[in-house]
Formats: sequence, structure tokens, C-alpha cells
Amino acid sequence: MALSKDYDLLVIGEINPDLILAGDEIEPAFGQVEKLVDEAALTIGASSAIMASGAARLGLRTAITGLVGDDLFGHFMLDALAARGVDTTHVVVDSARRTGFSVILARGSDRAILTYVGAINALEARHIPDGLIRSASHVHVGSYFLQTALRPGLPRLFQHAQEWGTTTSLDTNWDPQASWEGVDEVLRHTSLFLPNEAEACSLTGEEELASALPALAERVPLVAVKQGARGAIARFRDEVVQVEALPVEVRDTVGAGDSFDAGYIYGYLHGWSLERCLRLATVCGSLSARAHGGTDAQPTLAEALAYMQEDGIEGER
Ligand SMILES: Nc1ncnc2c1ncn2[C@@H]1O[C@H](COP(=O)(O)OP(=O)(O)O)[C@@H](O)[C@H]1O
Ligand SMILES: [Mg+2]
Repeated sequence: MALSKDYDLLVIGEINPDLILAGDEIEPAFGQVEKLVDEAALTIGASSAIMASGAARLGLRTAITGLVGDDLFGHFMLDALAARGVDTTHVVVDSARRTGFSVILARGSDRAILTYVGAINALEARHIPDGLIRSASHVHVGSYFLQTALRPGLPRLFQHAQEWGTTTSLDTNWDPQASWEGVDEVLRHTSLFLPNEAEACSLTGEEELASALPALAERVPLVAVKQGARGAIARFRDEVVQVEALPVEVRDTVGAGDSFDAGYIYGYLHGWSLERCLRLATVCGSLSARAHGGTDAQPTLAEALAYMQEDGIEGER
């Protein structure tokens, strides 16, 4: 595929930070009790923002569009994304809204999350100019269920993108309302679908991936399903491949699925085989789990290829 447009990838999605507090004694106690935590960090949060950061790290010319408030957290996100090479010039800064954020209480491998939605659900399809979609080889949407104002316009947006020669991908992530509705209409115009196993089952109403995967393959040409520590499985028409995760020392798996998406889309845009795309994706997902937060351990292409034992090899395979 020729990557001749202004951007290889346009990510449409939520842009908000995570405030991570970590330690053994992390559980809050009411009654005005003050506790001290071991570690604290403000980092790039949001599935879409983490995915954009991972894609830029791999070398894709990546832009993100979304909506933030004209506030400290909004500007933190714009600066942090720009520092990672993501073009943020198409982000809408709306002084009437406040940037959303999550407080993550991390204890060992477990975590509790408190999210202030703020501007996370405010982006609408009308905020995204046609010309911006035309300027990208590929458009990705993450956190479908959190972006409630974007959802009604998304099928048309994806349809137009495909008509204009821009391929599309969707990672719904989890549905906090457990309704799992509206996705089929978007899948009709989706080139590549990237759920995890639980999401694939919930969306199709199937108990097992063995039945969910063929059901999804009827709706979308290419499906790659994330299976956590077990790796991932992908299907294109009747071809199915499965790849193991990379054994890594896991700090936390925040954003592993988003880094996986970035890896898969890198391979997809370079015309790689189903198996090679999936191998790069799983390596990117696993390596991202080496550090706290979603972005700090995302690999460069050279690093990912080294873990795939393909040092220095680029291009078609
Ligand atoms: N515990 C783990 N050990 C190694 N790799 C992991 C682990 N958890 C996730 N990964 C890697 O990250 C990818 C995506 O993670 P997953 O947790 O399945 O996605 P999501 O975050 O969307 O639920 C997996 O396919 C795997 O390659
Ligand atoms: Mg996910």
C-alpha cells in the first residue's frame, strides 16, 4: 500500500491523562484518614491517545483529533503527545469544557479506576473535517462506547473514509453500559476490527471465541482478537493465525491492547502478511507492559523487530 498521504494514521478519540497512585496501602479510607502512597505519576491516559503514541513511536506519521478543555490536563496531554511525535494540530480545544481524567489506584497487578468523563464523550463527527480524513491513509477509532457523541455519526464517517481510499479500524474497548449496541453498523464500513476476547464474545453473544470469531468474520473482512497473556488470534477470510504473547516481566498491562493495535496497523499499512502483522502487534502489546502506564515502554520499530528476531528487516514479507 502506498503511504503517500499527509498522514499514515489519523486517530479519532479521547484525550485524557491518568493519575496513577501505586503502593501496597493504596485503598482509601473515609473518616478523613490520610494515607501516604509509594509512587505517583501523571501520564498519557486514554486508549486512543496511547494508541496514537504507540503508532508514532513505531514511525507512522500519526495525527490525533479529539476534544480537550483549555485547562492544565488538556495542555499536559497536547504537550505529552507532541513530545512523542503525534501531530495534535487538529485537536479541538474547547474552553467551555473540562478535560476528563482517570485516577488509577494500582496495587500489584490489580487496579481500581475512578474516571471523571469531562470532555471524553464530547467529540462529534461534525468536529472532524472531511479534508482531514482524506489526508490520512488510515483512520482508527478507539473507545467506541465512551465516545457517546461520536457514535451516531461514525458509520457515515467510516463509509466516507473508505470511499475516499482511507482504510478504517475500530477497537470498541469495553462497554461500561454492557449494551454492546450500534457496533454492527460501524463494522459494515470497518476494514480491520481489533477487540479483545471478552469484547468479541460480548459483541456476538457467544460464550467462546471459537464461535465469536467466525461470527465477526461474517461482518468484517479482517479481525484480530487480543487474548492477554495468551497472545492473539487473527482471521482474514478463511485464514486463521494464532501467536503467543512475548514473556515479559509485567509491571502493568494498562494500554497493552492499544499498543497492540498500533503494531497491527503498522504491519497492515505496510502490506505485511496476517501472521507478521499479528507477531508485531503481540510484541508491541507485551513490551508495553514492561513499565507502568501505557506509553513509557512502547517500542520503536527496530526494538520490536529485534524481539521478532527480524533486526534490520523492513518492508514486505
Ligand atoms: N500478562 C501479559 N504478558 C505478556 N503479554 C501481554 C500480557 N497482557 C497483554 N499482553 C500483550 O498485549 C496484547 C494485548 O493485551 P490485552 O490485555 O489482551 O488487550 P486489552 O488491553 O485490549 O484487553 C496481548 O495480545 C499480548 O501480546
Ligand atoms: Mg482494549
